[in-house]
Amino acid sequence: MDLKQFITIVPDWPQEGVVFKDITTLMDNGEAYRYATDQIVQYAKEKEVDIIVGPEARGFIIGCPVSYALSLGFAPVRKEGKLPRETIKADYGKEYGKDKLTIHKDAIKPGQRVLITDDLLATGGTILATIELVEKLGGIVVGIAFLIELSYLNGREKLDGYDILSLMTF
Ligand code: PRP
Ligand code: ADE
Repeated sequence: MDLKQFITIVPDWPQEGVVFKDITTLMDNGEAYRYATDQIVQYAKEKEVDIIVGPEARGFIIGCPVSYALSLGFAPVRKEGKLPRETIKADYGKEYGKDKLTIHKDAIKPGQRVLITDDLLATGGTILATIELVEKLGGIVVGIAFLIELSYLNGREKLDGYDILSLMTF
């Protein structure tokens, strides 16, 4: 299936110069959403994943259906101030802004094989911060899966040594 036809391009959002890739028009289409999810489920099986981790909010949209399909846990990475128990934190910058990401301290057990999911790889800031959190807890990042990779922002270069699946490249 050609997934690109379901992505809507929104110029100058959320700020001038950013060409936003809107995945909601893919999610609207049950067949396309399921097809994309199935590709990532297959990848997770090949990587013998123990748990899935995704950053708020669009990382949940991609990761949770994969967790459900494989009966695996999902550990949310959230922006600071959202998780109720003890957390660890990582600072990061992304294509349009800076923030802090957190994860519960007990979300990953040392040695667990982790798949990280997100909708889109832009500069790589969000995913690098997510990797940092997982590895601080002793998790092993065995794969990273995206719907979309923006190759013109070179995020992949920051993820040297990690295995990456991206279903679409712009
Ligand atoms: C977006 C997107 C990725 C990140 C990619 O999330 O969902 O997580 O930016 O950019 P980067 O590679 O430059 O870090 P955003 O922070 O906008 O949050 P949202 O998912 O809650 O909309
Ligand atoms: N997150 C970071 N950059 C983005 C973009 N260009 N489109 C959609 N989500 C993004």
